[in-house]
Amino acid sequence: MSDDIFRIIYKSTAAHPAEVMQGHGHLARLLADARRRNHAADVSGVLVYTGLGFFQVLEGPRAGVQSIFESILVDRRHHTLAVIEMDFIAERRFEGWAMGFLGTTRELDDRLNGVGLGPVGGPESLDRLLRRTLLVLVDSPISIPWLGARGALDDGLGPALARRS
Ligand SMILES: Cc1cc2nc3c(=O)[nH]c(=O)nc-3n(C[C@H](O)[C@H](O)[C@H](O)COP(=O)(O)O)c2cc1C
Repeated sequence: MSDDIFRIIYKSTAAHPAEVMQGHGHLARLLADARRRNHAADVSGVLVYTGLGFFQVLEGPRAGVQSIFESILVDRRHHTLAVIEMDFIAERRFEGWAMGFLGTTRELDDRLNGVGLGPVGGPESLDRLLRRTLLVLVDSPISIPWLGARGALDDGLGPALARRS
């Protein structure tokens, strides 16, 4: 039943600079752990890392989404978390992805430019950046086949999006 799909969208500020998050495998480990837990809880979604902060969509059975979100809330790798949306939805937006990942690279800039939303880089606030990314990923009716493309980060994180099954 569509009522069973619960979605939380939030944004937060990273606690550490990008060099720390991307170096030493921190981000890769965070993602690998998240994908394993999400898979087990039938939760799907996408994580966007801007270098300054995070933006994440979690969707799935309410109990699973909420319990994962409770852990995320108290995770010290980020702070100033703000919920953008928390509601039931008709269908998953990221079916098949235990936790998709997008990092802000030139490639993502180009893709966002390609759909007419302007570059990600440049002196705009984290808020504006996240709002624009949210539009592209969740609200926009445009198709985003490139979400399945490889490697938003060039640091050995592997596929930009991990299939859930
Ligand atoms: C930005 C960010 C996103 C995260 N996303 C997830 C996620 O999607 N799934 C997950 O299980 N853990 C995620 N985590 C990790 C959790 O916050 C937490 O470390 C993990 O669930 C272990 O929680 P526990 O110590 O309560 O077992 C994320 C952490 C951060 C900082």
